[in-house]
Amino acid sequence: MVTVTIRVKFASEQRDRSYQILIRDGILEDLPLERFPLQNASSFFVLTDSNVARLYGAQLRAALSESKRRVELVSFPAGEQNKKAETAWHVASKLSKLGADRSSMIVALGGGVVGDLAGFVSSIYKRGIDYLQLPTTLLAQVDSSIGGKTGVNTSWGKNQLGTFHQPRGVLIDPRTLQTLPREEIINGLAEIIKCSIIADREMFDRISRLDKFDSAIPNELIVDACKIKAEVVSKDEVENNLRAILNFGHTVGHAIESASNYRLSHGKSVILGMIAESWIGLQLGILQRADFEEQSDLLQRVLRQFSVKTAFLNKRTLFRFVMADKKGAPSSIKMCLPSRLGAMYVNSEGSYKIPVSKEIFEASIDHLREVLASPR
Ligand code: NAD
Ligand code: GLY
Repeated sequence: MVTVTIRVKFASEQRDRSYQILIRDGILEDLPLERFPLQNASSFFVLTDSNVARLYGAQLRAALSESKRRVELVSFPAGEQNKKAETAWHVASKLSKLGADRSSMIVALGGGVVGDLAGFVSSIYKRGIDYLQLPTTLLAQVDSSIGGKTGVNTSWGKNQLGTFHQPRGVLIDPRTLQTLPREEIINGLAEIIKCSIIADREMFDRISRLDKFDSAIPNELIVDACKIKAEVVSKDEVENNLRAILNFGHTVGHAIESASNYRLSHGKSVILGMIAESWIGLQLGILQRADFEEQSDLLQRVLRQFSVKTAFLNKRTLFRFVMADKKGAPSSIKMCLPSRLGAMYVNSEGSYKIPVSKEIFEASIDHLREVLASPR
């Protein structure tokens, strides 16, 4: 397979933060480091978690050693519960003990937890050093490794301490998905489907033609999702407006995920969230019924393949979670809704964020309950 190159390209005054995303099977064994501005990197510090260290740590260490620079590996226990300030502190003190300096390059090898934590540490260690993203979950490959959102969770919420700090580059090896548990695939798949709904009708049709959803997800879909994410973040790096369309399905989805106390995965929650939010679009007269039904059919088919039978759908509880979500203004719910398959609604003032009443929000949860109860 040839290497696919996608560019995250910021406007002229921020051009030095622009970077490339390279995608190729096997790229982890044969890193094209010459494609990145690494000339001044004195050493590489690979940050990873315990699972990924075991699977790919030695391979990456060998590939980086080809550059004749010093390579160190720092790992922490896998799991969302370790995406926290204490782990960042532990990792930073390890970097310091090992002698990482301002010209060291951090390499984030792993899923979104590793990427977010490594990005966060990179943004504050010695007031900010460079890092590369080498994502190994589907979610990290199509979403979290691109766009520079970094962070850790706190006792008062998810991602409540964080920064925008763009990586110097992203290297995606879809072959790493062969070792990923199937239950993790849905987290990335939800984001791939989201990308098609918000921006690419033809991509949506290709996904609809798949008859099973597993780690053999076609590389072209990874490429297409990365292109969409790269284009959106290039235009609106810090989410003033357009970047919010990437949150389609996530307002309701986050509320369900939180209400389930994270027993329902992010991907399953976001798929439910997309069904609810597109139903809201239908009620508001923004989305045509035919497009709504096509979306809903695909999303329900995916849910059935991952056997989602129960969700945590108490509408009052969910409303409370939505209001507590960091993206909600104090007095109203706002969300980004599709206007048709492949495009998002934008109002006459140019805003993608549409106010939604409590009544419609709660009715969308009733709709979800009906969907899950239906025998289809
Ligand atoms: P994760 O990083 O916890 O990875 C899931 C599991 O898969 C872990 O146990 C990990 O060790 C394991 N794993 C990783 N790669 C593997 C491989 N190739 N083979 C076998 N096992 C592997 O979870 P995730 O879903 O990748 O990321 C979730 C995180 O991403 C959340 O913290 C979320 O907030 C964050 N996120 C960030 C952004 C962003 O823009 N920064 C966007 C979306 C999500
Ligand atoms: N995952 C949404 C964003 O990066 O903005």
